[in-house]
Amino acid sequence: MFEDWVTFGYLLSAALFIFGLKKLGHPRTAPRGNQYGMMGMAVAVITTVIDMHFDGGIIGWTIIGSGLIIGSIIGYIMAVKVEMTGMPEMVALFNGFGGAASALVALSEAWKWIEENAAPEPSLGTTVTVVAAGLSALVGWMTLTGSLLAMYKLKGGVEIFGKWFRTPTWGPAWLNPIKGLLFISVIALIYLSIEDPTNTEYIWGIIGISCVLGIILVLPIGGADMPVVVSLLNSLSGIAAAFTGFIINNSVLIIAGSLVGASGLILTIIMCKAMNRQLADVLFKSFGGTDKQQLTRTKTGSDPEEVAMMLDGAQKVIIVPGYGMAVSQCQHQVKEFADLLSDRFDTEVKYAIHPVAGRMPGHMNVLLAEANVPYEQLIEMDEINPEFPECDMAVVIGANDTCNPVARSGEGPLAGMPIIDADQARTVCIIKRSLSVGYAGVDNDLFYEDKTMMLFGDGKAMMTELNNAMKEL
Ligand code: TAP
Repeated sequence: MFEDWVTFGYLLSAALFIFGLKKLGHPRTAPRGNQYGMMGMAVAVITTVIDMHFDGGIIGWTIIGSGLIIGSIIGYIMAVKVEMTGMPEMVALFNGFGGAASALVALSEAWKWIEENAAPEPSLGTTVTVVAAGLSALVGWMTLTGSLLAMYKLKGGVEIFGKWFRTPTWGPAWLNPIKGLLFISVIALIYLSIEDPTNTEYIWGIIGISCVLGIILVLPIGGADMPVVVSLLNSLSGIAAAFTGFIINNSVLIIAGSLVGASGLILTIIMCKAMNRQLADVLFKSFGGTDKQQLTRTKTGSDPEEVAMMLDGAQKVIIVPGYGMAVSQCQHQVKEFADLLSDRFDTEVKYAIHPVAGRMPGHMNVLLAEANVPYEQLIEMDEINPEFPECDMAVVIGANDTCNPVARSGEGPLAGMPIIDADQARTVCIIKRSLSVGYAGVDNDLFYEDKTMMLFGDGKAMMTELNNAMKEL
């Protein structure tokens, strides 16, 4: 009877995870999806604690209670304090912690098992436990070190270790065979552990090599490819959890880990497609980043009054938001701008959303939703691009790489990345502080076109000036 309730608790939490994921598929339902996920996790934790308590497995309520309280406080403070622009780093860090947590549980279980089975007889059960523990260690420790390096790179890095750790990339071609060699070594050690499961040297070997593997896997990746890697590490943290679920025989951990693993992998593939990359190229070709290009051209800036006059009478305007909008937090001014256009000039206004605009998936959607921009006006890249030739003005706010026409040329770090066709609009207005490059470090021809007006300044200040100029017309 008691076991039935535990099974029911796990089933309920698995169902909540699946419903939550489904709801996360649309910005309108995403907050509800988050709540379902939180409820699912709460049910899973409570069920596990009750199950362990009655199973005689709880080592101390104090340890569990302190862990929950300290973890919740740290998580709360981090979530409240993090800037929207710092989310990718925080996600990378949490991925790493997730991987490490799974690997640590697997390690403690392996240790317990070794103590209890001084001279184990070979059996299928032993083999399954050893393989699961080995794979959990491989994926978990690799995820920890890879995620910490990814976080460091996303933060911009510091040249404390010379060129090895200079962002965005370092990775000669001979690094790939080394990755292969290390991977094979871990598999070999797992195989040896099956033969001799109580040999702890194999465990330390697996942990050490996996940590190195995580670092050299992420070391060559940089520039525009970093989001793909963070998403892949997220997927790996789920896979590590699923392996650990097999070791401790916890069905909800297997289900939740598999869901994270699968959805992270799907997101990785979607992002690869959005950037026209192959996952193998991202991981093994050191393709995503170069040093920043030196700028040699100049362009005279326009003023907000000039742009406001151009907008007077515009029938269609497409707003192209990018990372700069997130930095300046000008989404409310952008919404006011759109309202002014439609109320005063009867202009049709839409927003062009690039899948990797900003620094995290859905970054622009989240910011614009916060400013109450109607979801119907947020149009995805493939759908909005055919509308640019009939658009009177594309207003680019803090976007750069995502509308850089050089991506069509097939050369450089942005080669082949699908872009927002802002350059196809009749006129273009770009709001940013200078002519400087974006995340991928590439100069943008769009800035220098005759039909482009540059409004140099902070996004929020410039949008406010532009709105004031429109009100005075
Ligand atoms: P970026 O190419 O990064 O360009 C952003 C521009 O915003 C910069 O050129 C900067 O120019 C401007 N800016 C910065 N602060 C500003 C401020 N306060 N006011 C106004 N402008 C400001 O942006 P994007 O077009 O959104 O492209 C995103 C890039 O990030 C892509 O390369 C993408 O691959 C990469 N990335 C994406 C993600 C995800 S998942 N979205 C994650 C990591 C990386 P100034 O300095 O001249 O102002």
